[in-house]
Amino acid sequence: MSHYKLGLEYAKQQDQNDALSNYRNQFYIPKDKNGNDLIYMTGNSLGLQPKTTKQYINQELDDWANLGVEGHMHAKHPWLKYHEYLTESMAKIVGAKPIEVVVMNTLTANLHLMMVSFYQPTKSRYKILIEADAFPSDKYAVESQLRHHGFDDKKGLILWKARKGEELANYEDLESILETHGHEIALVMIGGVNYYTGQFFDLKRITELGHKHGCKVGFDCAHGAGNVELNLHDSGADFAVWCTYKYLNSGPGSLAGCFVHERHAYNKNLNRFTGWWSHNKETRFKMRDEFDQLPGAEGWQLSNPPILSMAAIKASLDMFHEVGIKKLVGKSKKLTGYFEFLLKQLGEDKIRIITPSNPNERGCQLSIQVKNSDKTLHNKLTDAGVISDWREPDVIRCAPVPLYNSFEEVYRMIEKLKEILN
Ligand SMILES: Cc1ncc(COP(=O)(O)O)c(C=O)c1O
Repeated sequence: MSHYKLGLEYAKQQDQNDALSNYRNQFYIPKDKNGNDLIYMTGNSLGLQPKTTKQYINQELDDWANLGVEGHMHAKHPWLKYHEYLTESMAKIVGAKPIEVVVMNTLTANLHLMMVSFYQPTKSRYKILIEADAFPSDKYAVESQLRHHGFDDKKGLILWKARKGEELANYEDLESILETHGHEIALVMIGGVNYYTGQFFDLKRITELGHKHGCKVGFDCAHGAGNVELNLHDSGADFAVWCTYKYLNSGPGSLAGCFVHERHAYNKNLNRFTGWWSHNKETRFKMRDEFDQLPGAEGWQLSNPPILSMAAIKASLDMFHEVGIKKLVGKSKKLTGYFEFLLKQLGEDKIRIITPSNPNERGCQLSIQVKNSDKTLHNKLTDAGVISDWREPDVIRCAPVPLYNSFEEVYRMIEKLKEILN
C-alpha cells in the first residue's frame, strides 16, 4: 500500500513539509509567454541555472579585467588552483576520496583519456562490453578505441542486452556473458544510470563481476552524478566519468568530472596521455624539467582549465555542499515515488513505466511508455507548459529534480497529462 495521497491539497502539504523547498527560489525557472513558470522536467538533460552563477562568473571576469595575468596568483580565487576548489565537493557528491576526483575537459574526452589508460587490449583479450542501449557517444567512443587499436569494431563489441520483451538489463545475463566471454573482454564500460530507462545499476556488483574475470571496469555516470549516491570509491571501479550540465546545474557544455580509483593513484607505469597540467605542481613553471607525474586523478589533466566554466561549477557545487547528497536523494525518492504513484492512477491501459520500481534502482527520472501515442503527445505537453523529453517510438522521460521541482508541479503535470490522454 502506498502512503501517498491524491489531490492538490496533499501536494501542497508535502511542499510545506519539505525542508529543501526553498532551494527552488535559488534557481531561474523558465517561463511561458505570459510569464508563468513552466513545469521543467528535463534536469536530466540540462539543469537549471542557479541565481548565484552570474555572480561567481562575474567575480572572475572582474578579476581578469582588473588583474590580467596576475589573476593566476592574485584573483580572489587564484586561477592556478581553481580546479582544486571543486574537488572536495565533487568527491562527496560521487562518493569518492579527493585524490580520486578531478574536474576537466568534457565527458566523451575524459572517457577517451580513461580508455587510453584502462583499455589495454591484447590479441586474446581485446573486447569491450557495454549495455545494449548505451548513450550513442559512449558507443561511438568505444568503437573508435577498438579501431584505434586495430580491431574490428563489430567483433570487438559485446552488448549486454535486455531480454526479449523487456527493457531492463538483467544481472544474470551479465554473469553469463562474462562466464562465456570474460577471458576475451578487456573493458566493461557501463552507463551507471542508463539514460533511456533510468535504471541505476549496481556499480559494485558489476565491478566485482568484471574484476573476477580480469576485466577493467569503468562507468559513465552522466545521469548519476548529483542524482543518486554513486559511492564510486566503494564500488571499486577503475574509473568513472560524468558531465556537470545535467543534475549538477553548471551550464550547457560545461566541464566534466573524472574518477580514477585510489589504487591507481601512484602508478606511474599506466599508459596515459599527458600535458603540463599532469606534471608536478611544484615544478610545473620551471618549464625545463623532465616530466614528473602528478599523483591521483589530477595526473590525467592536460591543459590549464577554463576558469569561467569552472566558476559556474563552483556556484552549483557550493549549493550541493550546503544541502548534501544524502538529503537530496532522500527528497528525490519521495518526489519520484509520488510521481510514480500518480502516474499509476492513469491506468495500465494508457501508460507503462519502464524505469525500475525499486527506488534504489533508479534516480529521479521516470521513463514512461505511453500506449498508442506518438510525438504529438509530447508536443501537446509542451504546449500545456510541461517541458519533458521525447524518445522514439513512444517514451517520455521526465525527471522531477529535488533541488527545484515541487510536489505541486508533479501534481499539475499529471493533471495535464490526464487531460491530454482523455
Ligand atoms: C550518458 C551520456 N554519455 C555521454 C554523453 C555525451 O556527453 P558530452 O557531449 O559532454 O561528451 C551524454 C550527453 O548527454 C550522456 O547523457
